[in-house]
Parts: sequence; C-alpha cells; structure tokens
Amino acid sequence: METTLEATAPTSIAESVINLERQYLLQNYARYPLVLKRGRGCWLYDANGKRYLDLISGIGVNALGHAHPRITRVIREQASLLVHSSNLYYHEYQGALAKKLAEVSGLQRAFFCNSGTESMEGAIKMIHSHGRRVREDKFEIVSLENSFHGRSIGALSVTGQPKYRKDFEPLMPGVHFVPMHDEAALEAAVTNRTAGIIVETIQGEGGIYPVAESWLRKARELADRFDALLVFDEIQCGIGRPGTHFAYQLHVPAVLPDVVTMAKPISCGLPLGAILMNERAAASIAPGMHGTTFGGGALTCRVALEFFEILDELLPQMRRVSAYFFDGLHKLRAKHSFIREIRGQGLMIGMELEFPCGHLVQEAMSEGLLINVTHGNVVRMLPPYILTEKEADRALVGLGRILRRAKPAA
Ligand SMILES: Cc1ncc(COP(=O)(O)O)c(C=O)c1O
Repeated sequence: METTLEATAPTSIAESVINLERQYLLQNYARYPLVLKRGRGCWLYDANGKRYLDLISGIGVNALGHAHPRITRVIREQASLLVHSSNLYYHEYQGALAKKLAEVSGLQRAFFCNSGTESMEGAIKMIHSHGRRVREDKFEIVSLENSFHGRSIGALSVTGQPKYRKDFEPLMPGVHFVPMHDEAALEAAVTNRTAGIIVETIQGEGGIYPVAESWLRKARELADRFDALLVFDEIQCGIGRPGTHFAYQLHVPAVLPDVVTMAKPISCGLPLGAILMNERAAASIAPGMHGTTFGGGALTCRVALEFFEILDELLPQMRRVSAYFFDGLHKLRAKHSFIREIRGQGLMIGMELEFPCGHLVQEAMSEGLLINVTHGNVVRMLPPYILTEKEADRALVGLGRILRRAKPAA
C-alpha cells in the first residue's frame, strides 16, 4: 500500500522543519517538538529565541557545553588546515591523543572510530579473536542484564534489555546475561568458553545504576582465572563524567579492565569514539583485521586533545558542583516522598520516581529545562561539565516546580 506523505502548510520555521522531517526522514525517532537554533555555555536557544538550560548535553556529548571559545577556535583553525585524510597516512594528532589517553587510563594502546556502537563492535571483535587464539570454542561473552551497548547487531547482542533486541533476532550467539551484583550468577556463567566479560560501569540508559566495586573485582578475578578479556563500556559514564577520568577509577586501587570503550564527550560534539586496551588485548588484532575510514581524523583528534587540556583543569570544579547539585536533589527528595532514590556519580544523575514520569520532559521544557527520562520512571541528567552552582540552582528551582505539580500519569 502506498503511503501519502503530505506535509501540512507550515505557519512557523519550527513547523516547516518538523513537517519536512516527517515527510523525508526515516521515522525511527520520537522527537520532542523543539527546534534548536544555537547554544552558548550550558544554554540552548530555540527557533523562537526561548532559552533552555541544557541538562542532557546531547545525551552526554557536549561536555563543554555549546560554542566553548577554545573548542570553537580549534575547530576553525584545524578546519582550514586538514579535516580528514584517512588511516592510509599519518597526521599529528592521533598519536598525541593516544598518548594522552594512555596516561589518563592506565591502558597502553588506542584505536579510534566514530561512535560508541562502533567502539563496542571493535571490542567484541577483540574478544572473539582473543578467544579463538586460545581455543576454537572460546567465543562466549558474559554481559549484564539491563545494560545498553548500542544498536548494531554485535552491540545489540550484548545489550541486556530484550526490548532493544527482540525485533532483530537471531543475534550473535554465545552471549549470557547475568543480573547486576549477583556474584553467584557471574561465577556460574563464566567458564573456559568465555572469551570476554562486558560491563557498563555505570548503567546509563538502564536508569543510572553504578556497578559495585566488589562486583567489578569479582569480574576482574574471573576474567583472569578463565583467560577472558574484561571490557568496560564507559561510553556514557567515562571521560570526566563521573568526576574522574573513568568510572573504574572511582575505586582505589582502580579495577583495571583489559579494554575500555568510549565516545560521547571525547570530541565535544564531533563524532569520535575510541577503544583503549592493554598489550594482551591489543595482541588479538593484527594488521588488516580491523579498521575504519573516518575514525581518528585530524579535526576530531585535535579537538579531543584540546578538550583533555581543559578537562584536567575542570575536574575539581565539576566535583564541587556535583556535590552541590546532589545536595539540592536530596533536599527535594526530603520534600517529595514519591522520589524513590537519587543515584549517580559526578554529573551523571538519576532521580527515580515511584511512577512513570515521561510527561515531565515536556513540563521541564516549558520551565526552560532540558532533561531526559529513561526506563519510564528515572529522570536522567547529564549536564555539561561546565555547569556552575548558579546554574545548578536554576535547575533545582525548575525541578522543584515540576515536582510540586508531578502526578502519576493517568
Ligand atoms: C553505555 C553506552 N554504550 C553504547 C552506546 C552507543 O553509543 P552511540 O550512540 O555513540 O553509538 C551508548 C549510547 O547511548 C551508551 O550509553
């Protein structure tokens, strides 16, 4: 049957933008009716000039907010020199960025790609290749229930939420899911056939659940005992977001994985992902076994280097503002008994309510706040790292207002 794709006559810029998308884009997103025009710092402005405090940063991407002067300058300068040259040749910035990542992560080598999903695909290939070098039937992967790792077939296969997987089955075989913090289930799932254990160190899309240190240590011990690679997905929770460079560094001594995947904030809005690995994991990939056309271009890597310079100075301020924001959220919880829990680390924040609260996103928008709701009843906030106490106050006042009106959706 043919579908009619007729747009209604637009009455504003926003409407014409929305109509055009409805007519020509794959209808896979349920977007909010907000057309954004520009941003500065933690603030975004829509097509009508209304401003919003950005507490979601493009889902954890815009670490330095919008139009950061140092990032804008570097983009402008590098765009006029060299944007992309492929991985056939060298440029100045990949090696320098890999060195910086090695220094801050404790892992030795890097591979650059374009997104979180792509970094997970690479990590899964490393797991398979590592297992195959040990024995033919060592390809199984143990992953966590409620995790999210991306939308490609490999990343979906290790994502512990059936709602994302069900339409695309059969997926990659040999994946076992265990509940978070169930050490007995983990012990039972990891065998000689296990080639990798994958852990989203703080589950983001699943509702902001940090994985406990004892569980991470158990995963490390089992990976060592059964010669499997331990992979931490820090795509959402890493690179400064928890107030440290990586979430696994929140524990002392750090529970060091063999492989870390990352993306979102690393190039401040430009598409860059990375896999960091130790020498043991790196040995699983020989020349020709993996690659990408775009990954690690001069522009994205140079911006990431600039970002890391700023991040080193920013982390103490972030930790201070985080403590301030969490304190304010706990005060809101004391006023509203339907707030079940406040969870998170650094500027990765979840506020779980007793009832579904998807409707709060639009209410927050009318208050001039951009938030997100995940898992039906968890308000998720991933503000830019440059958030100030004053902006946190503005967020708390707006949240206070929408919570006073909050009622379970009918
Ligand atoms: C923990 C985690 N892993 C993987 C991904 C997929 O990353 P991307 O959307 O950049 O492909 C995401 C994205 O939200 C994520 O939060």
